[in-house]
This record gives sequence, C-alpha cells and structure tokens, in this order.
Amino acid sequence: MAKYLVTPALPYANGPIHLGHLVEHVQVSIYVRALRMAGEDVLCVCGADSHGTPIELNAMKAGKEPEQYAADWQKSHAATFDKFFIEFDGGYGSTHTPLNKKHAERIYGALEQAGYVTRRDVEQLFDPEAGRFLPDRMVRGTCPKCGTPDQYGDSCESCNSTYSPTDLKDPKSVISGATPVMKSSEHYFVSLGKFTKLLQDFTSSDGRVPAGIKNYLDRWFADGLQDWDISRDGPYFGFPIPGADDKYFYVWLDAPIGYISLSEKAAQEKGRTFEEYWNDPDTRIVHFIGKDIVYFHTLFWPAMLSAAGHTLPLKYGIHGMLTVDGVKMSKSRGTFIMADALADALGPIGVQALRYYYACKLTSGIDDIDLSLDDFIQRVNTDLVNKIVNLMSRTVPMLHRYCDGKVGPTDPAAQGLLDEARARAAKVEHLYRDLEYAQVVREVVAIADGANKYLQDEKPWDVAKTNVAKAQMQLSTALYVGKLCMGLLGPIIPDASQKAAAMVGAEGGFTFASALAPLAEGLQLLPYDRLFERLDKKAVHSLVVPSETGAADGKKAAKAKTGQKAADKQGKAKKEAAKKDEGPPAEIKVDDFFKVELRAAQVKKATDVEGADKLISVTLDVGPLGERHVFTGLKPHVQPAELEGQMVALVANLKPRKMKFGLSEGMILAAGDKEPKPVFVPGAKPGDRIT
Ligand code: 2FM
Ligand code: ZN
Repeated sequence: MAKYLVTPALPYANGPIHLGHLVEHVQVSIYVRALRMAGEDVLCVCGADSHGTPIELNAMKAGKEPEQYAADWQKSHAATFDKFFIEFDGGYGSTHTPLNKKHAERIYGALEQAGYVTRRDVEQLFDPEAGRFLPDRMVRGTCPKCGTPDQYGDSCESCNSTYSPTDLKDPKSVISGATPVMKSSEHYFVSLGKFTKLLQDFTSSDGRVPAGIKNYLDRWFADGLQDWDISRDGPYFGFPIPGADDKYFYVWLDAPIGYISLSEKAAQEKGRTFEEYWNDPDTRIVHFIGKDIVYFHTLFWPAMLSAAGHTLPLKYGIHGMLTVDGVKMSKSRGTFIMADALADALGPIGVQALRYYYACKLTSGIDDIDLSLDDFIQRVNTDLVNKIVNLMSRTVPMLHRYCDGKVGPTDPAAQGLLDEARARAAKVEHLYRDLEYAQVVREVVAIADGANKYLQDEKPWDVAKTNVAKAQMQLSTALYVGKLCMGLLGPIIPDASQKAAAMVGAEGGFTFASALAPLAEGLQLLPYDRLFERLDKKAVHSLVVPSETGAADGKKAAKAKTGQKAADKQGKAKKEAAKKDEGPPAEIKVDDFFKVELRAAQVKKATDVEGADKLISVTLDVGPLGERHVFTGLKPHVQPAELEGQMVALVANLKPRKMKFGLSEGMILAAGDKEPKPVFVPGAKPGDRIT
C-alpha cells in the first residue's frame, strides 16, 4: 500500500464553482476513489485560494470585508462540491488560515536563509486616488499598436499584441477611473534561475508531466528562468512579509503552500502529521492542474519545496480547458454554466451523468475537453442507461419475479462472454491510475455490449416460461456482468455504484476485487432500486441561458468600469454597501438573477384557507419538478376559482417555508403595486423555464 497525497488546484474564493472547475475536480475525485478502491492510503485536500487583489476589490464592491467575502465563497464551494460527490479530507479549507501563514513564513524563511531572495526597486503604475499600485489587468486604455480604445494594460483584444501598461495611451485605473502615475517601490524576488538544474532534472524525469507540456518547459528553460516577484505593496489582502514594511506575499506564494497547511489539518484529523506526507520521500504527491497554471506548479512550487527540504511532487495530472458545444464558455452565450445550476436542474443523477460524461472525455493528455450537450445526453442515455444500467435494471426485477430474488449459477455456455469481460475489467484499475478514464468507459461499455447481446440472444424472459432454472442462470450471468460494470464505474458514478453494491449485498461499496468476484449462488438480492435515469433533453438544454443584455459578460462589465462612470459607480456601490441592511441592493449581477429559478406552473387546485383572510392554498403542476404546494397572499385581489387551470409564474427554488397553515414551496409572481394580480404565462407548459 502506497501513501498518496492528491490535490486539485485551489479555486479562487471569488465566485461560484462552474463546469470548468469541475473538469479538474471530477478528474481528481475519480482518481482518488479509484485509488481507494484499489486499497491505497490516500489523503486528498483542497480549499479556497483566498488572497489577492481581485478578491479584495470584489469584496469591497460587495460591501464585505475580504475575510468574510472569501469565507462566504469558501462555504459556497464546499456546498457545491458536496452535490457533485467530491470530498476532501479535513473538509474544504482555505489559504487564509493561521496554519497557512505559519507555513508561508517558514518556507519564505527557508528561501531567504539560503540566499534565494533578492530585493530591488520596481516602477509600477500607481492609482493616486485609490492610493494603491495597479496590476496590469486593472489598467485600461488605448492600444499603443492599433489604437483600439478601452484595452487591458497587458494585451489588446483587437490586434492581440502584448505590451507593458506604461505603453498604453490614455491609461485609466479600473478602480477609480483616475489616470495612473509611475511610482517606484522595493520588491522581493526569488532567484528562480538558481534552481535551473534542479528543475530541469525534476521536470524531465519520466512520467512527471504529460508529454504535451514538454514543449512549454523546453521553451521556458531555453529563455532562461526569470526572477519571480513574490511581494506586493499594501493595501493587499494576503499575509504580511515578516520584517518588511507594508509588504505582502503575492497570492501565488502562499496558494500552493495551502497544499501543505490543508494536509496538515487533514492529517491531524487522522492522527497523523504533515511531516509524514511532506518530509517522506516515499509519499506520492500528485497535483492536478489546468494547463494555464503549469509554470507556477512545475517551476516555482518545486523550487520552494526544495528550498524548504520537502518532498517534491511525483506527478502532475494536467488537463485542457473546457469548451461548451465547441467554443470557450461564454457568459453572453449562456454557456458559462454554474455547477449549482446543473445540480439544481438535473439532481444527483444529472450530477453523476456529468461525471460520467467528463470521464468519457478525460485522458492523460492536455487537449481541451468539449461538453457537447447533445453528445452528453446521447452518451448517458445510450451507453450508461440503456447498456450498462440496463443489465441490472432488467435482471434484478426478473430474478425477483421468477426466482424469489435468488442468484443462480452462471451459464457455462457464456464462458467466452465472461472471459472477455474479466480480461477487459483487469485493465481498468491501471487505466484509472494512468488517468485514461475515456478508455475505462470504453472498456466498460464493451463489456456491457457483450452481455446485452447475450441477453438479446438468449431471451431469458421467454426461457422462464418453460425452464426457470435455465432462465435464472442466464439472468444471473447478465447480472454478474452488470454488477461488474457498476463496480468498475464506482469512481465515476459513486452513488449509483453504491446502490448497485447494496442490491447485491456488497455493503459499503465495491472494491476492484469485489466488483470482479462472482456472485454467490443463492445470494438474496434486494429489490431493484432505481440506479439511474435518462437525461431529459429539455432540462439539459435549459442550462444554457443566453444573456440578451450581455451584462454577464465580464469584459463588458469591466469596460463599464473605466472613466468617470467607474468613479460614480464606485461611490454608489460604497453608499449601497453602507446601507446594505436597509433593503435589497439596487443592482444585481445577471448571475444573481439566474439564481432565481422561475418556472411556469399550472394551477391544479386553489382553495380558501380557513382562518386566513388573505391566503389561497394552491396546488401546482410544475412539469418535471413535480407537484408543488404554495400559499399565496393574493386573496384580496383574486378568487381561487379564477386561478384554477391558469399557468402562473413560480419562483421554484425558494427555500420551503413552514407557515401556520402548512408548508409553502415557492412563490407565485404578481404584478401591480396596489392591486397585485398573478402574472399569467399563457402558452407555456408546466415546468417551462421563464428567463
Ligand atoms: O488559477 C487558479 O484558479 C488558482 N487559484 C489556483 C491555485 S492552485 C494552488 F497553487 F493553490
Ligand atoms: Zn491593438
């Protein structure tokens, strides 16, 4: 048994988890579950990356202290991961903790002690109104090359050229709208060049990084490793640099150190220590990251670790970026899908369906991953439900019907089928270890294909009419293959696999060994428990909600922030923040709006409520969401009979409210200040989304 420490990258505490994040987190969750199924000793940690300027500024806009703002996102991430069956040892933590501060100071101390830290003055743009230095992205102005106005400080979206923010014409601070000035201050640097030999050996050793990354690394080494600027001047949300005046560690210094502090917490909960992981050369440290943050993880991070005498990562799982229907996720196209939106629309089955689909696409390579909505529906419905789950959903009920739910022997005539299934199954554990999940799925689908053909050929449902013992044998054979498939897919669809395990008496879930083991003759099966469902096309497509205003588009939002407009807005935001307890915010982001799930709902029944003059008790048909009951306070303005049969607009994701007269599971929209009347949505079908 080997000791593993596995990490996904730490998501910024600056917004919700979206389907892009999930590519990596699903990849990690599958890996960790597979290792555990193989009996390995695994610690898996993650938490929110909580520091840096963007978080600080967004906190300000939200009228919150950065600590609170980051903690709120941390909580939101934790809840989302939970819905996706993504679990972390020690819980989902944060980099803004005393433990992380301790390790950041310790590792910085080691770098300094060994002479790797130098200091020199740096000239940078400074916002005189906001009293702070500006990162490149916080300056906008006219492109020095092509003259396009309103471009970022580091690159032009129109001509794609890159430049220094000091070259911009008419630069403006995104924070205050003021014209930035040049100002000098002392920065701290890590001399990365001194680690060149170590890093070259490290990254070139076999299997450490995927082959596709080698080119990047070669280029970086050929260009020579540049000193790394690890300090930022205050105000900055981060850890102060010990011994420096109003200087802080750049967020990318303490972020990876989060891997250490998070594992210390997780290890302690298991009665172990972080040294058992980070000071033991035998620990298999595996980092999963996107290809956009390779530099930080394969160069800066091992340099820091080696200076502090820690164990270096064994391997990096590096994935490509997510596209939706072939293009980069985009807020204006509505393809920037939040993880919660998917979990809320499709439920735990849909969540596992996404895990399955990502698995179909994931390999050890770094190619981008495309989520094609139609392909998603097709693969889940055709392969997972109709082929794999089908083996159990057909055989278990028939074994109950014909044989009191008892497993019989396997069919000797099916030896070929079983041999092939076992041969394919034997490859699966290693495919998981090698991050070749797409191949895992192909093997499992091929196994299921064999058994479905066998069922179709043998027709045990016909055989049962004349020879129950033979039918039992055939059904038990197909059931065995079905449970093998569900066992092998345990890391991918954990909840369905667990249910399948319970049905065949494998309490606590499958291991690779128990998935492969024969079913005992005479085993009493539990009644069939629905393992999976087909995806509903409409529900899946409802995830893409194009924004007509484009207000959710980050770039447009950023553009609106420059110049005087920005100053006005900022003042307004501050005032709003100050009176945030006095009412709802005057402006919300489109993402906030999309948190409200509006659905068409047909009134099935509407009655008066005894003892409540203003209330009507309404039973609604919300299509795929089922039946809902709500109380509406519209009695003075509408009669129950007028409501019956009407299609109303329902806030469908309101937390159910316990009222004196019963539970209210939503809210019916009404219009009219003095005489509010229900908003009817004629022509809509029950459950249709209103956007
Ligand atoms: O790129 C990002 O989203 C970073 N928050 C990843 C940090 S990974 C680690 F270094 F903490
Ligand atoms: Zn340009």
